Amino acid sequence: MQLRAVRGMKDILPEQVRLWHRLERAFCDVVRLYGYEEVRTPLLEATQLFVRQIGEDTDVVEKEMYSFERHGDALTVRPEGTAGAARAYVQHSVYAREPVTRWYYLGPMFRAERPAKGRYRQFFQAGCEHLGDPGPLADAEMIHMTAQILARVGIEDVAIHINSLGSGDMRERYRAALRDHFTPLRASLSADSQRRLETNPLRILDSKAAADRAAVAGAPSILDLLEPADAEHFATLRRYLDRLGIDYVVDGRLVRGLDYYTRTLFELKTRSGELGSQDALLGGGRYDGMVRSLGGPEVPAIGFAMGLERILSLMAEPEAMAGPDCYLAPLGEAARAELLSLGTELRRRGIRCEVDGRGLSLRAMLRRANAMDSRLCALLGEDELAQGVLTVKDLNARQQDEIRLDDAAERIADRLGRPPAAMPSPLPARNTDDPDG
Ligand code: HAM
Repeated sequence: MQLRAVRGMKDILPEQVRLWHRLERAFCDVVRLYGYEEVRTPLLEATQLFVRQIGEDTDVVEKEMYSFERHGDALTVRPEGTAGAARAYVQHSVYAREPVTRWYYLGPMFRAERPAKGRYRQFFQAGCEHLGDPGPLADAEMIHMTAQILARVGIEDVAIHINSLGSGDMRERYRAALRDHFTPLRASLSADSQRRLETNPLRILDSKAAADRAAVAGAPSILDLLEPADAEHFATLRRYLDRLGIDYVVDGRLVRGLDYYTRTLFELKTRSGELGSQDALLGGGRYDGMVRSLGGPEVPAIGFAMGLERILSLMAEPEAMAGPDCYLAPLGEAARAELLSLGTELRRRGIRCEVDGRGLSLRAMLRRANAMDSRLCALLGEDELAQGVLTVKDLNARQQDEIRLDDAAERIADRLGRPPAAMPSPLPARNTDDPDG
């Protein structure tokens, strides 16, 4: 039987990776302008971290985590990046070293969801976590920043949804209001929502079940219940967004699927219709209680993560990678060894080249150089080797001439218009049986 990739997990082949690089570069370029630095945390965390932070009644924890036990430890492959980043922040007492921390991360996340377009079991997120600033300026800047990342890759047709979940016992009061609203409609709700009516009615609001839609549409808005300080935070955020010229939609029923949020919530959705119900390109919000609940001090925080596959599906096709600068085609063993060295010398000068070591005929190698759209092809046969020369063909200009072998790298660099010695010298030779390289 032929083995295939696990359902919901995709191979990303080199021609696609080009587009990934463009998106990742756009993300890094923008977030670095705001002072974010990369953090790398493990793919595996203690299961309890996610259960406590994301919340027991969420879809992610109830149904989607890849959890297992090994050597007596309950472990989970991360379904998201925020809990791990906050865990690292507390574990390394980062708050004691700096009042404000800005971290970004890029990497795979794992959720056993039902695969669909834009919804995978392994998917990539790029995200930011900003700790130590209570906002709302931080909130407005983060929302603005996310829109700029999308704009950099040509995605401007997005709707920015914002909401506030309030703070303190506000959620409890909102839960009670939702229970009052949903209880009379109980019979019409999906089985999950009927159960969550008791455990956590907030989660009914982000239910994906069709049966729940009508009841959710009439649900009370949390914004009507906000305490004055929370309402002020939200009003100031709106003022800042207006000042930045950002169009947004106030969406009083946006709760997002994770339990850790407080106050500001936001989601950027594509309006293209291409992704169906998987239209959330990115989402985030405040989680002012998380650091404290992990054993750290009271540190407010806000963050977001974007789903790279969803964004990539809206980006234009990648341009093909340019062919090599020079294709090195040896005929015979002595020529192969000679071109092995020349290849090294060319790359040291920053010239992209490939040596064909397969022992093919001249014609076959030339065909390959043309197919790859190489600019030059350097041919070395036994006669040339005996004369100390190399034939260089310019495949665009369809010209060829002979150059001396002893300064071939310099000549080829000249022909390509490269400054001499564009690259630093190679690393010093090493003992090859050193297992760590
Ligand atoms: P999230 O809304 O669960 O938030 O995920 C963020 C983004 O990841 C979504 O908007 C979507 O683009 C993408 N995404 C989620 N699940 C999938 C999937 N199964 N397949 C493809 N893409 C997916 C978080 O994860 C929070 N940690 C964001 C955050 C950071 N909040 C504060 N800081």
